[in-house]
Amino acid sequence: MNTILVDNTAGVMTITLNRVEKKNSLTSAMYAVMADALDQANADAAVRAVVFQGHETIFSAGNDIGDFLNAPAATNESPVFRFLRGISTFPKPVIAAVCGPAVGIGTTMLFHCDLVYAGDNAAFSMPFVNLGLCPEAASSYLAPQLMGYGRAAEALLLGEPFLAEAALEMGLISRIVPPAEVAALAQRQAQKLASKPLSSLIETKRLMKKGQATLVAERMLEEGVSFGRMLREPAAREAFTAFMEKRRPDFSNT
Ligand code: COA
Repeated sequence: MNTILVDNTAGVMTITLNRVEKKNSLTSAMYAVMADALDQANADAAVRAVVFQGHETIFSAGNDIGDFLNAPAATNESPVFRFLRGISTFPKPVIAAVCGPAVGIGTTMLFHCDLVYAGDNAAFSMPFVNLGLCPEAASSYLAPQLMGYGRAAEALLLGEPFLAEAALEMGLISRIVPPAEVAALAQRQAQKLASKPLSSLIETKRLMKKGQATLVAERMLEEGVSFGRMLREPAAREAFTAFMEKRRPDFSNT
């Protein structure tokens, strides 16, 4: 079964995370498909908006932890970095439909979406520290900017989740609806965007993002170097092994 589904209908590319039995955790192969899909959507003038969606019960449990354990040394061309570069610089509108947990990159990718519609069951978290890691996707820059330092510290240092209401208040998401209605709302909004002049959408998005584009790219690179190093260090190895063995991690020797 395809773990990422890509559909092109009426000017909208819909990318569906489809690995529900593993809580839509993301493997290298899945990032590669999503990065390729974004490249294709960028190049194809017929695609005017992109929608990311998961399942009504789970958006994504973040990076596959088994993949983290076995990952080869990350390079700038690793699928995850290709995906993050692709989504953070994507010129056309990107919408996300989010229900249930959105963990790690499941939350940080949303910083790069233009419209996020969430179910009232959505729960966002960035537990990088709990995994012996550091933020990615420029979240160390964008989270404090969006949430204020205090709430970002709770989210990034403690790894505490926040719910849809808090995400709405801080402007990470645009609207909360019942989970069964999220995907349809995202599609309706995407169709509205697809009927507007693409050149105006692209220029408006570029202008809105202009102030932060360089800072985001620089921070993402810096985070990537640290993240790649920390993946191999004892704290992360212990966290990943503990997850696989379904036990609590012991960081006393790290
Ligand atoms: N990587 C690999 N496998 C994962 C996973 C991940 N990030 N998240 C969940 N899974 C797997 C579980 O190992 C389990 O597999 P199994 O059925 O073979 O045992 C299956 O998905 C179901 O997960 P489970 O934890 O039983 O579901 P839940 O509903 O109790 O909890 C989550 C859902 C998302 C809260 C929980 O799975 C979780 O916290 N996952 C890890 C999140 C994380 O730390 N991600 C990395 C962020 S950088």
